[in-house]
Amino acid sequence: MSDCGLEGSAPGLFGPLRLDLPEGCVTCLLGASGVGKSTLLRLLAGLPTGVVFEGQVQRLPAALMAQEDGLLPWLSVAQNVTLGARLRGERAADPAALLAAVGLAGFEARLPGTLSGGQRQRVALARTLAEDRPLVLLDEPFSALDARLRLEIGALALRLLAGRRVLIVTHDPAEAARLGDQILILTRAGLMPHPAPKGAVPRAHDAGEVLEAQAALMERLLA
Ligand SMILES: Nc1ncnc2c1ncn2[C@@H]1O[C@H](COP(=O)(O)OP(=O)(O)OP(=O)(O)O)[C@@H](O)[C@H]1O
Ligand SMILES: [Mg+2]
Repeated sequence: MSDCGLEGSAPGLFGPLRLDLPEGCVTCLLGASGVGKSTLLRLLAGLPTGVVFEGQVQRLPAALMAQEDGLLPWLSVAQNVTLGARLRGERAADPAALLAAVGLAGFEARLPGTLSGGQRQRVALARTLAEDRPLVLLDEPFSALDARLRLEIGALALRLLAGRRVLIVTHDPAEAARLGDQILILTRAGLMPHPAPKGAVPRAHDAGEVLEAQAALMERLLA
C-alpha cells in the first residue's frame, strides 16, 4: 500500500477497502450518513473509533478538523486557534492573520459562545490551518457556511494547504466537484471512485465539467 492511507474492513460497517492519499492530492469523500466517513478520518488520525478495524493504517502526522468544532468555551477565539502549538510549546501561527483570512478579522477576543454556527466553524478551520502537518483531515468543514463563503473559504483552504495530503468529507456533490483531485464514495461495500473533472483545484463552480460532475455524483448518491 502507499505511504499514507489505509487498507482493511470494519465488519458490520464497511469494507474491504483501500484508501490512498497521495502527496499534494485533495481527496473528497462522500457517502451516506452513518456509513463510516468520520470513522475513517479518526483511523487515519490515530484516534479511537468505537468500531473494530481489521487492516493496516499508514499514518502521517495529521491535523484533524472534527465534525463537531471542539472549541473550548473558556478560551478566546485567538487562544482556540493557537491552542495546539501552545500545548506543544511551539511558536504559534499568527491568529489574527488566519482569522482575517477566514473572514473573522477583529474576532480575536470573542468567546466561542458568542459566535454563530458558521463563525464557529471558521474558527475551527483556522485552528486546523494553523497546524503545520503533512496530512490534513477535514470533516464537513464548510457545512455551516452560506453559499458565497463555501466557495471563498473552500478555495482559500486549498490555497493554504497546497502541496499537502488533504482529505475532505462532504455531503455536497458541488463541493466535491470543485475541490477534489480524487473523488471517492464510501458505501457498505467499500470505496467507489468517481471521475473528477479535469483541471487544477479549486475549480470554478460554474465550469461545464464541474456542473456535469456534480450532477453525475448526485445521481450516484441517490441511486
Ligand atoms: N464511538 C462510537 N461507538 C460506537 N459506534 C459508533 C461510534 N462512533 C460512531 N459509531 C457508529 O459508527 C457508524 C459510522 O459512524 P461515522 O460517524 O463514521 O459515520 P459518518 O459516515 O461520518 O456519518 P455522518 O455523515 O452522519 O457524519 C455509525 O453507525 C455510528 O453509529
Ligand atoms: Mg461524520
